[in-house]
Formats: sequence, C-alpha cells, structure tokens
Amino acid sequence: MAILEGKNIILGVTGSIAAYKAVDLTSRLIKSGVSVNVVMTRNATKLVTPATFRYISRNRVAVDMFEENIEWQPEHISLADKADLLIIAPATANIIAKLAHGIADDMLSTVVLAVRCPVLIAPAMNCHMYNNPIFQENMNILKGYGLIFIEPDYGLLACGYEGKGRLAEPENIVKEIQKVFAKKQDFSGKTILVTAGPTREPLDPVRFITNRSSGKMGYAFAEAAIMRGAEVILISGPTALTKPANVKLLSVESALEMYKAVKENSRKAHAIIMTAAVSDYRPKNYSHHKIKKQSSDLSITLERNPDILMEIGHNKKHDQILVGFSMETENLLENAVQKMRNKNTDLMIANDVTQSGAGFGTDTNIVWILSKTGEQKKLPLMSKSDVADAILDEIKILMNNSF
Ligand code: CTP
Repeated sequence: MAILEGKNIILGVTGSIAAYKAVDLTSRLIKSGVSVNVVMTRNATKLVTPATFRYISRNRVAVDMFEENIEWQPEHISLADKADLLIIAPATANIIAKLAHGIADDMLSTVVLAVRCPVLIAPAMNCHMYNNPIFQENMNILKGYGLIFIEPDYGLLACGYEGKGRLAEPENIVKEIQKVFAKKQDFSGKTILVTAGPTREPLDPVRFITNRSSGKMGYAFAEAAIMRGAEVILISGPTALTKPANVKLLSVESALEMYKAVKENSRKAHAIIMTAAVSDYRPKNYSHHKIKKQSSDLSITLERNPDILMEIGHNKKHDQILVGFSMETENLLENAVQKMRNKNTDLMIANDVTQSGAGFGTDTNIVWILSKTGEQKKLPLMSKSDVADAILDEIKILMNNSF
C-alpha cells in the first residue's frame, strides 16, 4: 500500500445506488495514506450525505460550484491542480455521457475537465443500460481520450436484474488505482514502435485480400506503453478501433506501405513490437479497372511481400528490443522458436489461435513469451491490455540489461 502514501486523490461520487460503496472506498484510501477530496453530484447527495464522506475523508466535500469559498482560487481549479489521480466511483451513464461530450455543468464534470492527472471511471448501472450502444459509444470515446475504465462486475443488480453493471468491489478499485501509480512512467524517455492490424492487398479499385486481424492487441500495446510514459508510434493497417490518446498514428493499407512506414521510423525506436498480421503475398497484377466476371474460372497470381520483421531483425541496432508475434494453429512452440531465430527477434510471442479466448477479434489472449535466451513463459487467459503490460515488463528487463 506504500505506493498510495501521500497521494492526492479526487473521488467523484454520482447518483447510483452503489454510492454507499464509495464510503468503503474512501475509508480504504484513507487507511492507505491517501488524502481524499470527495466531489459529489447533487443526485448522489440524495443517496449518501456529504457529511458521511466529510467525516471519513476528513476533508470538505464539494458539491456546488458557487459556494462561499475561503480560498482565493476557484475550488474546481485548486482541487484539480493538486490531484495525482481522479476516480469516479460509482459513475452513472449520465456522467459518462456528459464527459464524452465535454459538458461541464456541475462541480464534478468541471473538475474532470480541469485535471491533468489520470482519470479512472468505475461505472455502475442496469445491465441493459450498460450494453446500450449509446452508452458503449460514449465509453469508447472516453477510452480514446485515455480515460481508464474499471469494468463493472456481473451479478444481481439493485434493479432486480442479473447481469453486468455492478460497481467493481472497492478492494479491486483500490488495486486498479495502485496499478496506475505502480506503472507510472517506467518507459519515460523511450520510444516504442508498434505495428497493428491487418494489411489490405488490392486486386482492383474495389477488391482486396486481407485477414481477420482486428488490431486489438497492437492498440492495447500502444495504450499500455503510453500509460507507462513512452512515446508511441503506432503503424496501423485498417481497423475499426479508436485512435489511442497521445499516440502518433500512421495509417497504412498494404504491406508495402507498412514496410515503408516501419523503415522510416524504426531507427528512433528503443523497442519495436510487431503485432500486425502482415500479408505474406500480394496480387502480382493490380487492375486499374474493376475486374469483370468471365464464364471461365479466374486465377490470381500472388507475389511475395517483404518480411518486415525479418528485415528489421537483421538490421537492428544492438540495443533495440525487437518483439515478434507468432500465430499458429499447430506446433505452436516449435514454429515460434524457429521464427524467432529466422527473424532475429529478442522476444517472440506465440499464440494458438484455435484456443477459445485467444487470437483474432477477442478482447483476451493466451500467449507464451519466448525469449532468445531460451526462457518460455506461459501467461494465463488475460485481457489484451494485461498481456501488453506483461510483455512490456519483459521488454523493460531487456532494456535495462542492454544499457
Ligand atoms: N511479419 C512481418 N512481415 C511479413 C509477415 C509477418 O513483419 N510479411 C511479422 C508479423 O508482424 C509477426 C511475425 O512476423 O510479428 C510473424 O508472422 P507470421 O505470419 O506468423 O510468420 P511468417 O513468418 O509469415 O510465417 P508463416 O506465415 O509461414 O506462419
């Protein structure tokens, strides 16, 4: 818990029935040596009184913007300036919608706009509200701006439904807060290049050859590295994902475009993480007009694309850390070890795409981390963002050894 000692945390409490759990959260934070400033919405005060939070936090509780303030500075600014972290728990669909659109019409929403520290959101609501695409879109907008969401739990909800929407347990919320401080800035001063997504190999103006890659693993890397203070260059094939905040995004389509972008940017990177599913082949002949159907069969001749990872691997600087991904459907470890040798990577991340919870399109992954020095570590089923963090931990060790 020492990691939280002396930190200033703003706790936003909104009008969900789970507001009572924020009392427990406040108490846990105080016991860890945190100075907690609670900011409540008007609706939250109908569920738990400000006095409860005042006694537990031993600090004034802010609700209104225009209360008589003894300090010379507007309260929302003085609170925001000293905050090391802001968390809203519980967060209603309403506050999330307001934040997604920059509305600042009360103390809490105004403080969120004014802070420059990490912002965590722990939603709590009815399961149908949680799954509503309007809510999901608002959440994605905020994720795109770098806000961190703590997923609600699955269980019996106050409304009588059973589903996903219960505020995460205060104990777990504290762990998420610790994580933010723990990983803070250990990659500061480092540049990380990430490739992500599929490539598209055009046949004619309307058709292309591609693959099932969603880009989620690479985007999770970009987000995790940014969170840890790195400069991130994300070279991405076409995906449906939102650009992570503060990332330099270079959008490409074909393997040749990705090859060029990687070559132009690789020298300045301390670590290069190649999650992209690069097409090994492209149609040999591109037709400038739409190919018309014929009565007979049609053959397409494919020619090899450059192996980007292989080329970077054989030309990298001695202190650059290179990480490849090896997706397999059989002989997982043998194939991955072989690729690590051929492509001269420091780490090879192997996953068996036939396993459920691993591979394309999922939010989770099951991977092995193989290193050039022979270690083989299997990670359990994890979110892609936790997988990214675990691999960044390995990269950090290699970086420290190579300087
Ligand atoms: N890769 C690359 N350029 C390519 C093909 C792959 O940079 N033309 C990179 C991928 O980004 C990944 C790694 O190489 O990090 C492994 O890709 P994979 O397709 O699994 O390996 P291949 O060497 O293409 O082997 P195969 O297709 O025979 O399984």
